[in-house]
Amino acid sequence: MINTLRKSIRQYKNLSLLSPLLVTGEVIIEMLIPYLVGILIDNGIMKGNMSYITKWGLILLVITVISLVLGAGASYVSAHAAAGFAANLRKDMFYHVQDYSFENIDKFSSASLVTRMTTDVNNVQMAYQILIRIAVRAPMMLIVSIIMSLIISPRLSLIFVVLAPVFILLLALVIKSVSPYFPKIFKGYDQMNEVVRENVRGIREVKTFVQEKPQTVKFNKASGFIYKLFSTAQKIMSLNSMIVIAVLNISNLAICWFGAKEIVGGTLQTGQLISMFSYSNSVLNSLNILAMIFTQLVLSSASGRRIADVINEEPSIENPRKPLTHLNNGEVIFDHVNFKYDQEDKALALSNINLHINAGETLGIIGKTGSSKSTLVAMIPRLYDTVSGAVRVSGHNVKSYDLKTLRDNVAMVLQNNVLFSGTIKENLKWGNENATDDQVVAAAKVAHADDFIREMPNQYDTMVEQGGANVSGGQKQRITIARALLKNPKILILDDSTSAVDTQTEREIRESLSKNMPDTTKIIISQRIVSIKDADRIVVMDDGKIQDIGTHDELMKRNDLYSSIAEFQEEQKK
Ligand SMILES: Nc1ncnc2c1ncn2[C@@H]1O[C@H](COP(=O)(O)OP(=O)(O)OP(=O)(O)O)[C@@H](O)[C@H]1O
Ligand SMILES: [Mg+2]
Repeated sequence: MINTLRKSIRQYKNLSLLSPLLVTGEVIIEMLIPYLVGILIDNGIMKGNMSYITKWGLILLVITVISLVLGAGASYVSAHAAAGFAANLRKDMFYHVQDYSFENIDKFSSASLVTRMTTDVNNVQMAYQILIRIAVRAPMMLIVSIIMSLIISPRLSLIFVVLAPVFILLLALVIKSVSPYFPKIFKGYDQMNEVVRENVRGIREVKTFVQEKPQTVKFNKASGFIYKLFSTAQKIMSLNSMIVIAVLNISNLAICWFGAKEIVGGTLQTGQLISMFSYSNSVLNSLNILAMIFTQLVLSSASGRRIADVINEEPSIENPRKPLTHLNNGEVIFDHVNFKYDQEDKALALSNINLHINAGETLGIIGKTGSSKSTLVAMIPRLYDTVSGAVRVSGHNVKSYDLKTLRDNVAMVLQNNVLFSGTIKENLKWGNENATDDQVVAAAKVAHADDFIREMPNQYDTMVEQGGANVSGGQKQRITIARALLKNPKILILDDSTSAVDTQTEREIRESLSKNMPDTTKIIISQRIVSIKDADRIVVMDDGKIQDIGTHDELMKRNDLYSSIAEFQEEQKK
């Protein structure tokens, strides 16, 4: 984990090293102060020597200012380095996630990826800042305070020898009992973010189905889970400060008791006793800070591991070593294809699929919901890879193509496509960033989107809100089709992409597709018979298998499932 995270420090390495140096200077000077104050009291104040007091007072003042400047410098440098490190971490995660396959994304869930890029990175940032500043400061303070106490009075320092191990043991117990809570708390964050994300994205569904109450209950459960764990963890951690106060008081009492005896016996001076108090406080304080640092590190190491998991995740679909960068035609062959989403799954999502789609053919796919229609077509642009068997496009296994070549040539309008915030034109240009305005308009015309886009306030420059909230369902579908057309693909897959478009417009889109893209293989998935009945052939999917293939007329005659869907939909129309 540390090796993975360390790679993201990069340009902030020098700053990260500067911070401990500044801290070292600060501590050395700061630790001299009580010693000098002791001397000042014993030689100046106790003896009433005014010029001595002035001289050492000035020296003390200068030293204090230097120590403050060094301290402020260390704070600034460490904050800067940690913020930079965090920015690099976020960037590295984001870039890496771009290479993820659908399978990788399924594994983490997008809510968890968001928590990892935000909350977890913040934790690591905080830990890093502590690490290069306070984690250097505290042990040094500890060591220097012990050395100074030994110089002043070796005998009184024995008190630390007795108290410190007890103190460390108690704090270690607290940390040990609190650390298992942190990974659980982060899991809780993932769950809560999932609820929030789902709710915010689907706020319209929530409202229309009057699901506010159940959603709130779900949120409260997730949030309450975190609250419960956090407050238990806090309760345990609050023992820390009790232990610190108790030990501090015991140590002060002991120093008073033994110190007073030594002063009476003449082996210690008053100023030295006062210095001793300062050093003993700073010994215990440093130990306490070390304990807090340790807890923070335990907490952040849970975060760090979650970040490293994201960065170290191997993209499950990668470019082949010598990829094909040209794709000739839109012929697709499924050869004994089996697939399941999770290796643990018992049932196959696709089982023994054999299918030959000719270049330029229009293929319809129909089947009940969950019959694996979307899964079937996801194999063509390698959104997922087959478990066994092969998918070949234009004579070559899809795995031998350069991914970009493959996906540029296989345009897929996903079932639940989203638009991104930006203008309509920008959204369309996702299909082809180099498209001219004329090409953009031409594609929009084929998808029957041009008309309504022209009616919008700023036409092609109209802003689309996040997720496409300000365009209707049917409009959004037509924009996403136009976006796919701009790729000028060899294979076009429309996964239920016209479900929100009226049947008349839908037919016009189909006709303009076959007129304008005669050589493109068109695969049309639909729940509606009307959308696919004119296709050259129709595949009937059932439970992950191809149940039948044929033309509309053939299927109407021989296939019960198909004809019953057709009859049912005819009924509905009446
Ligand atoms: N990302 C995924 N992870 C795990 N299982 C999945 C995933 N996507 C789909 N499935 C499962 O695979 C099966 C087939 O789903 P698929 O989406 O291909 O069906 P579909 O025929 O397209 O249905 P619909 O008509 O509702 O779109 C279903 O049982 C579904 O639960
Ligand atoms: Mg589907």
